[in-house]
Amino acid sequence: MTTLEVENRSEMKPTLPSRYYYGPDIYELEKERIFYSSWICAGRAEQVPNPGDFFRCAVADESVIIVRDKAGSINAFYNVCRHRGNRLCTEDSGRFKAGALACRYHGWTYALDGKLIATPNMVDADRFRKEDFSLYPVAVQLWEGFIFINLSSEPEPFTPDLGKVGPKLHRYNLSNLRLGYRKVYDIKANWKLVIENNVECYHCPGVHPELCEIQPGFKSGIIGQEEADGAYLVDGGSTYSTSAKTTRPLISTITKEDEARFRSVTLYPNLFLGLLPEHVFVFYKWPVGPKETRLVVEWLFEPSTIETPGFDPSDTVDFLDMVLSQDWDICADVQMGIQSRAHHSGVYSLQEQLPYKFNQWILKRLEG
Ligand code: FES
Ligand SMILES: [Fe+2]
Repeated sequence: MTTLEVENRSEMKPTLPSRYYYGPDIYELEKERIFYSSWICAGRAEQVPNPGDFFRCAVADESVIIVRDKAGSINAFYNVCRHRGNRLCTEDSGRFKAGALACRYHGWTYALDGKLIATPNMVDADRFRKEDFSLYPVAVQLWEGFIFINLSSEPEPFTPDLGKVGPKLHRYNLSNLRLGYRKVYDIKANWKLVIENNVECYHCPGVHPELCEIQPGFKSGIIGQEEADGAYLVDGGSTYSTSAKTTRPLISTITKEDEARFRSVTLYPNLFLGLLPEHVFVFYKWPVGPKETRLVVEWLFEPSTIETPGFDPSDTVDFLDMVLSQDWDICADVQMGIQSRAHHSGVYSLQEQLPYKFNQWILKRLEG
């Protein structure tokens, strides 16, 4: 077990001002400077295995279509028709029939690469050129089986900061893992409170007694969530369940050093990876408003594990669901508490350096 390195033992750091967690002005700024201009994890490439397959995602107020084209590339577009702005796609996922997206208003039809290919019944004007009316593009980057998108017209370079866990991440073979289960939570708290909760363990002894039973290092509340060594699971455990044990096999590519160990990685602003010897769980955080967050949780396993007859991840799904419900209850209470007229800002203890680091990232982004 390792303990958190504390850079400066004499100084506690302030949280963000309380209004950053509910002010509509701050939320508007975050939309522009964070969610519409940084790389956001939209989902997994396996969600669009074949040409024409698509899913939609909501990045704050924007709707984006992710689609695989006939050449096999994954593209993303604003979900907006170039004619008069109709929302093109109204389903969450599916397959575009006939390999094209047709707007249901006047029938303008787009190829899977975004090019306008048909304008049925339209009386062509002399200077109208279809090539001027492709769908508005959204930048796409694939990484470890994840699809990242960037709504900026000039996206910054994609350089994920994996921290200390980075050198070990390849051992979990993320790009090969497949979805075993998905669950959606609607949390009554600002998206930053959800991340701040995820990246510190000071709250674990009080809020997560069951988690501390299988991960005793969390009982001290000073385990750094992103340390290279992570935290040990009891009795050689391999998963999050009441005993930390399961009959499912370990991920075949991990090493001895990864066994009975939990690690995590946070990629700001919306992705969290929980790395267990037997599976990886993923959080995608989507702001819905200044005081609400939608969290999508996915449990990823090796394909051979999922294909095993009787595959049933409910032991680990139920356990994590219990832990997360404890977190979201607290986050909702914090959201209410910080809105008090008495509370203008809080303070971070020495073992809460990661939330502070996250807050510094926020402030830097908001400065522009
Ligand atoms: S708004 Fe889409 S075809 Fe008219
Ligand atoms: Fe927690």
